[in-house]
Amino acid sequence: MNRHLVSINDLTKDDAILILDTAKELAQISDRPVKKLPTLRGRTIVNLFFEDSTRTRISFEAAAKRLSADVINFSAKGSSVSKGESLKDTAQTLQSMGADAVVIRHPASGAPNLLASRNWINAVVINAGDGTHEHPTQALLDSYTIRKHLKNNQGDLSGLRIAIVGDILHSRVARSNALLIKKLGATPVLVAPPTLMPKGINDWECDFSFNLDEIIENVDSVMMLRVQQERMTAAYFPTAREYSRNFGLNSARLKKMKKNALVLHPGPMNRGMEITAEVADSTNSVVIEQVANGVSVRMAVLYLLLGGPQNEAESGN
Ligand code: CP
Repeated sequence: MNRHLVSINDLTKDDAILILDTAKELAQISDRPVKKLPTLRGRTIVNLFFEDSTRTRISFEAAAKRLSADVINFSAKGSSVSKGESLKDTAQTLQSMGADAVVIRHPASGAPNLLASRNWINAVVINAGDGTHEHPTQALLDSYTIRKHLKNNQGDLSGLRIAIVGDILHSRVARSNALLIKKLGATPVLVAPPTLMPKGINDWECDFSFNLDEIIENVDSVMMLRVQQERMTAAYFPTAREYSRNFGLNSARLKKMKKNALVLHPGPMNRGMEITAEVADSTNSVVIEQVANGVSVRMAVLYLLLGGPQNEAESGN
């Protein structure tokens, strides 16, 4: 396995399946009264967040603590980054504190790659979301959730059609999911208004549509994306109401979906915009389960990149 996890392209299909299988094993820890393994005792993991996060930061922290690692949480707000400190100087400060892994979220696409490819730091780098580029652990937890429900929690996702709907243009979740779904043998179906479909969409080698109603009956899961108002520099649709009418998942569309089709959303949700409250809270929705699965998947990523069977044998754990 590659030393860092910056992009889904860092993983082979076998690597991805190993992460999902390891997450399945580690999920059992979360059901125990004492939710801890000694695997990463003595290792230091830094959560380096230059952008807001609820789910990703907390679940990386929970994952690291369940593996007995020491965790340092760094938020750009309130740090010397607000005084103009560079990524390089911040990284070197973390290096001097003995970080073994850095989990980085950054508004600039490419920041985790920069950290992984320069000699500023000797730690494993894990991308927790960079700009509009990638969010690989979100895609892994999404595939884990789909596999658990639709593939008996084993193997790949072959034969499934999975719609990714909404603001694809600004979505790192969409890119990582499209790459991973294809790697696992399923077909991603990208759905968005033309203004929110990235240029060169043919290069993504996915099915795509500008009409949600056209595809809704023939997919096995639907991933709804948050409309990312904070990244929009122009008017991409006339009104929120019109966007919801054409691209929102509502009860009428849910009724047309396959009976066991899953509804996913990475969060945070704009209820009433890309998804109605009724659908978000429906029995098809696995939004809350995605968050729980995120802890197991991130435990698996930390275990495989920092611990793993080989290092475990060396440390005597
Ligand atoms: N899905 C996701 O990345 O959520 P957060 O922004 O809360 O981490």
